[in-house]
Amino acid sequence: MRIVVVGKGGREHALIRSLSESPVETEIFCFPGSDAISELATTVEAEGLQGLIDWMKSNSIDLCMAGEESYLLKDEGLANLCARNGIPCWGPPKEAALLEGSKEFAKQFMERHAIPTGKARVVESAEEAREVIGGSYPTVLKFDGLAAGKGVAVCPDEKSAEDFLDEVFGRKRFGDGSLLVEECLKGPEVSIFAAVSGRQAVVFTPARDYKLIGEGDTGANTGGMGAVASRQLLEPDLTARIEEEIIKPTIEGLANDDLGYVGFLYFGLMLTADGPKVIEYNCRFGDPECQAVMPLVSGDLATFCLEGARGSLREELLDFDEGWSVGVILASAGYPASSHSGDVIRGLDTVEGARVYHAGTRRNEEGDWETNGGRVLAVVAPGADRESAVEKAHSEAAKVDFDGSQRRNDIGRLHFD
Ligand code: AMP
Ligand code: GLY
Repeated sequence: MRIVVVGKGGREHALIRSLSESPVETEIFCFPGSDAISELATTVEAEGLQGLIDWMKSNSIDLCMAGEESYLLKDEGLANLCARNGIPCWGPPKEAALLEGSKEFAKQFMERHAIPTGKARVVESAEEAREVIGGSYPTVLKFDGLAAGKGVAVCPDEKSAEDFLDEVFGRKRFGDGSLLVEECLKGPEVSIFAAVSGRQAVVFTPARDYKLIGEGDTGANTGGMGAVASRQLLEPDLTARIEEEIIKPTIEGLANDDLGYVGFLYFGLMLTADGPKVIEYNCRFGDPECQAVMPLVSGDLATFCLEGARGSLREELLDFDEGWSVGVILASAGYPASSHSGDVIRGLDTVEGARVYHAGTRRNEEGDWETNGGRVLAVVAPGADRESAVEKAHSEAAKVDFDGSQRRNDIGRLHFD
């Protein structure tokens, strides 16, 4: 099976590793890929989305797998272009990817299908936003379009809200677009992932990521400093409630609205005192949750995704480990305000019994790995129980080092006492 994975980060490294471990014979390609990914997959040399489609057509590609979301929403949309060219695609069409691409679209979808979520109003100006907020804090402000994870502000007070309003409507940091003013929800967060094909869904292992840079959940927001995954993260009653109140109506809603959803769907949930509520949908796997979840998944992921892209999900192709998995991110100096490239990474060869997924690395002229971005890599360890996975992930991550490296010691520990 000839597969192209679209993306270049730690999530794609993890997906490609799992695809390559599928029992079916695979030849894997990646676009745009990275130096680390090129050890498992051949880099596709193509110009832009249309170039990629042309390349896939002339290289008899059996399956295109969307890793990151940007291509799903670009131009005509990766999945739409694949469909027009007869290439099975594991990833949703643009019309459905708006669940991630437009907060307003997602909110209307949830209201239409009675899916629990925070109350929200759409506004077009700073004055309108102030009126809706009505001096009541905390409040949550969300830019309507894709904003590389920077488009959401949880505002405890007027000052923080005014700063964000200035970014959105004053400096137009994210370009033109409207804003959602949303009720601030409280409670622990959990990330749920489903593989979806039409009316069918297979729920993967749930995970929790740690978004802030500092230990104890302090400091600035990041792309994620680590994640913990296990079926045991949620009590069976709560899992059943999430399936009934959130996953089922979402899948039914997507099918009833003729959105033709195919691919991974990520539910960002908050477990509030009133029950689980959706904070956001993403039309892809989470990063770094994917790096923690994938080691728990075995079986034939390649065939599972190909069959899913063709319209039928075959759950029996996959097995899910009942244990735990913990992934610790190492970030470069200055992250998240900035990042530092060119710091040589030491100790990678000494990691044992854990997986290392590269996100922002490259090979230097001497052939050594060095930093090349904010989040550099993830060290992921499994364990029969949480404590052993936590101990192993942290002790193996401690073997890897580079100048200015940042790592949280409480990944998999915080929120479990
Ligand atoms: P993201 O959309 O991934 O940038 O994440 C935004 C983060 O903001 C979420 O992970 C939550 O921690 C927080 N958040 C988003 N919506 C709400 C809400 N309605 N209430 C409280 N926190 C929220
Ligand atoms: N871990 C959060 C995300 O992938 O958006």
